[in-house]
Amino acid sequence: MNFPEYRPRRMRRTETLRRMVRETRLSVDNLIYPLFVAFGKNIMREIPSMPGVFQMSVENIVKEAKAVKKLGIPAVLLFGIPEKKDAVGSDACSDQGIIQTAVRAIKNAVPDLVVITDVCFCEYTDHGHCGILTKKGEVDNDATLEILALSALTHARAGADIVAPSDMMDGRVGVIREALDDGGFTGTPIMAYAAKYASGFYGPFRDAAESTPSFGDRRAYQMDPGNALEAVREVALDIQEGADIVMVKPALAYLDVIRTIRDEFDYPVAAYSVSGEYSIVKAGEKLDWIDGPRVMMEILTAIRRAGAEMIITYAAKDAARLIAG
Ligand code: PBG
Repeated sequence: MNFPEYRPRRMRRTETLRRMVRETRLSVDNLIYPLFVAFGKNIMREIPSMPGVFQMSVENIVKEAKAVKKLGIPAVLLFGIPEKKDAVGSDACSDQGIIQTAVRAIKNAVPDLVVITDVCFCEYTDHGHCGILTKKGEVDNDATLEILALSALTHARAGADIVAPSDMMDGRVGVIREALDDGGFTGTPIMAYAAKYASGFYGPFRDAAESTPSFGDRRAYQMDPGNALEAVREVALDIQEGADIVMVKPALAYLDVIRTIRDEFDYPVAAYSVSGEYSIVKAGEKLDWIDGPRVMMEILTAIRRAGAEMIITYAAKDAARLIAG
């Protein structure tokens, strides 16, 4: 054959050449950093299974928010650990609740940092499930919808820029949209945890948020890991109900789902690189078995390559520093 032989290695010879043909670039603009706000004062409690991640009381969260902003990260995702938990997660619906208080403090100190709030009950209920229970101990979908809408409204009132329901109740995006609109918050977007799987990768988060269910598990409301078509249906429903951003969670084991959602829908896609994804990299790094920062950047780049515009990651600060060089 006499056509010129194509040799892909030609464009890999130097870093400058590689830089010129790189298809996917991770930017600090893609990153969202999760924060855990705990009730109390002077709290700075490291999560043993998540080195570098802390539960912080409000004044420390404000300092952290300033540091996040300084790194150029555009947004944080806030989780609350209340003083008291009860059967219906009352703190989640109180204007004086932990997350509402933290939102006000952050927005006051760092107004242009985007604050996204996690809307769910598992951190606020004494049984650790994501909603109100029936007498039989199942999560009551429709009863939970009412308090989800109320909770989201208190977040918006506190100044949340985006609300992110993570409970996986059917119909929640619609009721939250309606409550926000009725409350005058037509401009507050909803980031829906649209395709959220029942995952073993959430293990360390449940230590961080103190939200392990006291009985049973979440398989009756979160998705089965074997399903991809179902993710398309879930996302379609959330968009119909008014979602502005759709999320796939976890990220690393679900790159195919991220790609499918990116291709099927013309809405912004977020991916949540969850606690377990962070912990396995940190553990491997601690054992000296892998190059932690390199593997982390590779994972984040892969999530971006799969099609996510936004990546929620506990490694956001590390990644922002690495990107800045
Ligand atoms: C539920 C919620 C969970 C996570 C985010 N929101 C946990 C769960 O469903 O048990 C997990 C995040 C992570 O593992 O990093 N409010």
